[in-house]
Amino acid sequence: MKQANRERGAVIWFTGLSGSGKTTIAHVVEEKLLDAGAPVEILDGDVVRENLSKGLGFSKEDRDTNIRRIAFVAHLLQRNGVFVITAAISPYKAVRGEARAMAKDFVEVFTDAPLEVCESRDVKGLYAKARAGEIKGFTGIDDPYEAPETPEVVCATDTESVEESAQKVVDKLIELKYLEA
Ligand code: ADX
Repeated sequence: MKQANRERGAVIWFTGLSGSGKTTIAHVVEEKLLDAGAPVEILDGDVVRENLSKGLGFSKEDRDTNIRRIAFVAHLLQRNGVFVITAAISPYKAVRGEARAMAKDFVEVFTDAPLEVCESRDVKGLYAKARAGEIKGFTGIDDPYEAPETPEVVCATDTESVEESAQKVVDKLIELKYLEA
């Protein structure tokens, strides 16, 4: 029996504060990859927490568990040639490092917007609740966010358009030879 040819795939790992644009850009990147004929799956933080990570909270331990689950599933898909886009805050450097080590083909995308900008967007109204003390341990307010030092892509989402940010990600995938130009 002939072994099936396994395509390469990659894990495209978004990280950034709540409201920094991870999910929005992820969906535009997904469209671009689908247009290029690539198999794509999105593991979005909010969706994962409704399913795979239901019941987990926001302690460091629970966040690390959440990220390890996402990394594990991402790896399973990626090794079968899928482009997996993850979009969780993933605030801790060490566990992002674990995800990178597991996937090997790992492209880290930092959605880098100042806290003030994310807070002023407050899409879900959660920053206001965190400021009012109704939510404790909110990332960026009273819980840490460890920015990546050498991500493959930085999207300055306070100054770039969504389209520009998404195109940067795709350009990096081409540069790293995951996609053909
Ligand atoms: S992570 O830290 O484990 O990576 P994840 O991306 O899954 O976080 O979930 C973050 C989302 O959960 C936020 O966008 C927000 O909607 C919601 N959320 C609720 N409580 C918190 C909190 N304490 N800190 C950050 N996000 C929270």
